[in-house]
Amino acid sequence: MKVKELKPVFSQEQITSRVAALAADIDAHYDQAPLVAVCVLKGACVFFTDLVRAMKHPTLELDFVRLSSYGTGDSSSRTVSFTKDVEISLQGKHVLIVEDIVDTGHTMDFLLRQFMARGAISLRIVALVDKCERREMQIATDFVGFPLESGFIVGYGIDYAERYRNLPAIYEVVPE
Ligand code: IMP
Ligand code: MG
Repeated sequence: MKVKELKPVFSQEQITSRVAALAADIDAHYDQAPLVAVCVLKGACVFFTDLVRAMKHPTLELDFVRLSSYGTGDSSSRTVSFTKDVEISLQGKHVLIVEDIVDTGHTMDFLLRQFMARGAISLRIVALVDKCERREMQIATDFVGFPLESGFIVGYGIDYAERYRNLPAIYEVVPE
């Protein structure tokens, strides 16, 4: 796919205000309960750093996973595996998975199944963008930044073939 144009979808201001609201919702939900926020690399990296800095949870722990799916570009793979697992124990803690986009749900289905065996008190998902109409697996997002019906997006951590992650806002890729 050759990129013709990047069409603005969510501005920096919109993202900042949604992230602040999400952080407040999440803080209110967990209060002082033991909580680990798990960033799903690489796509959620920018969202994660903004979100955790907006949260006031007093004992929040941070960790990272990297999942690999076959292929690059805009096709969501159905075969998922860890290339990097969390390093801290999830036992006896609430776990908040921080993801850029939940699309078909295959990625989150894999991660939830893996984490279920780790003794967490609860598992919840915060997605910056939820493409809920494209779901193939029964995955519910608990906190959502923006619902999105269609379009392939980039920016604010989200890539197309590893590019555009550093853009501060979110754009739709218009192909040539
Ligand atoms: P799922 O397993 O189909 O839910 O795939 C979710 C993953 O696919 C996201 O974490 C992204 O890495 C990727 N993805 C889905 N939609 C887009 C998009 O519009 N732009 C870039 N990546 C996307
Ligand atoms: Mg991702």
